[in-house]
Amino acid sequence: MAVLAVDFGTSNTAAAVLDGGAVRRLSIEAGADTLPTAVFFPPRGAMRIGQGAAEALIDGEEGRYMRALKSVLGTPLLHEARLIGGKRRSLSEVITAFLSVLKDRAEAQTGQRFTRVLSGRPVHFHTNDPEKDAQAEADLRACYRAAGFETVDFLPEPEAAARASQGPNGETGLIVDIGGGTSDFTLFRRGAAIEVLASHGVRLGGTDFDQAISLAHVMPEFGLGGQLTRTLADGLLPVPRAIYVDLATWAMIPFLYTAEVRRMVDDLVAHAVDRPRLARLQSVLRDELGHDVAFAVEAGKIAANGGPRGEIGLGLVEAGLSVPVTTGSMNAALGQAREELIRAVYDTLSLAAVPPAGVDHVILVGGSSLMGVVSDVMTQICPAARISRAEAFTAVVDGLALATGD
Ligand SMILES: Nc1ncnc2c1ncn2[C@@H]1O[C@H](COP(=O)(O)OP(=O)(O)OP(=O)(O)O)[C@@H](O)[C@H]1O
Ligand SMILES: [Mg+2]
Repeated sequence: MAVLAVDFGTSNTAAAVLDGGAVRRLSIEAGADTLPTAVFFPPRGAMRIGQGAAEALIDGEEGRYMRALKSVLGTPLLHEARLIGGKRRSLSEVITAFLSVLKDRAEAQTGQRFTRVLSGRPVHFHTNDPEKDAQAEADLRACYRAAGFETVDFLPEPEAAARASQGPNGETGLIVDIGGGTSDFTLFRRGAAIEVLASHGVRLGGTDFDQAISLAHVMPEFGLGGQLTRTLADGLLPVPRAIYVDLATWAMIPFLYTAEVRRMVDDLVAHAVDRPRLARLQSVLRDELGHDVAFAVEAGKIAANGGPRGEIGLGLVEAGLSVPVTTGSMNAALGQAREELIRAVYDTLSLAAVPPAGVDHVILVGGSSLMGVVSDVMTQICPAARISRAEAFTAVVDGLALATGD
């Protein structure tokens, strides 16, 4: 019975099968090995996924766009019903719909019917919270089931990536998979098979980098850090922070588009010491530009990572508005993330009681492993190890497909 391998990622999803002993990646999206984990619901008509969803957003079509759905697994938000695309539905139903399309397309492309799936999962969906973590896996399993898979198995994402990795026999390897939502690590010994020595993970990824960069660079332009006058008293109050944190968080953006939040922001504008900045927040919510802002932040991050400086273009919010991101300002925003990353690598090594010098080969996986901070941290911790890059976006799905052959 054919098994479909699925890497359901926070940012990107991929599917593959084992075909005559070799991995065959499926083009769930025409001409691509991966597709953005994103959906778009127009007010009427069919849901769009992947690149088509992003295009609908960029074209400014009316409808609800959502990304980073995986982040919501294991939380009560997953089951809250919202009006999405003219119908009340929960994010659990949205994930199920996404996985159903994936299944249909995989079946159309292979001519096979898939009732079994081997899915990746982060080592921990939630850091230091075993209950929430188990709930997240149960939630994802329920979504696969509802999408028509009768048998659902999971393999930790970095263990899958280890299977797909290359290196000499006998080496001690460390997979460092930094994705959109989580950082996952597998320390292993390479022999006839991969012997896993320890796996570990934390809820920290590119969407958190985006959030930190947005809070440091963009949100102050929308009034964060400003002050409010009081209605019936003297003195000033700080502008509340929570709404900015949500606006800087991919998974939370759709939840801000409610009459209640808009009223609250109208009230903030009325009391703002710096009205023009708060008025920008008001127009972002009114015109539903939260995802456009988040995409601009992500693009600024990638540009500043590739060169000395990037720009976060906010022209949609206000003509000519743009915020620079420099290597220095980005490193400052990511200081805490860097510390968390360092701690997680050391925790992985201690789980297996292997010292840093015992690692021969560090293998970087995941889109966020392209960040300079990640290679810096790994060179700092394991200076003697060889550092190589696996195929950032497909190593996990390749390994999952290989594992379907067990
Ligand atoms: N060139 C780049 N430089 C820095 N970051 C990048 C680059 N390209 C992509 N990213 C980031 O990589 C992340 C997506 O990586 P990836 O597709 O590996 O995640 P994922 O597998 O979907 O997530 P997860 O495994 O955490 O659920 C995004 O946060 C994106 O901004
Ligand atoms: Mg991933």
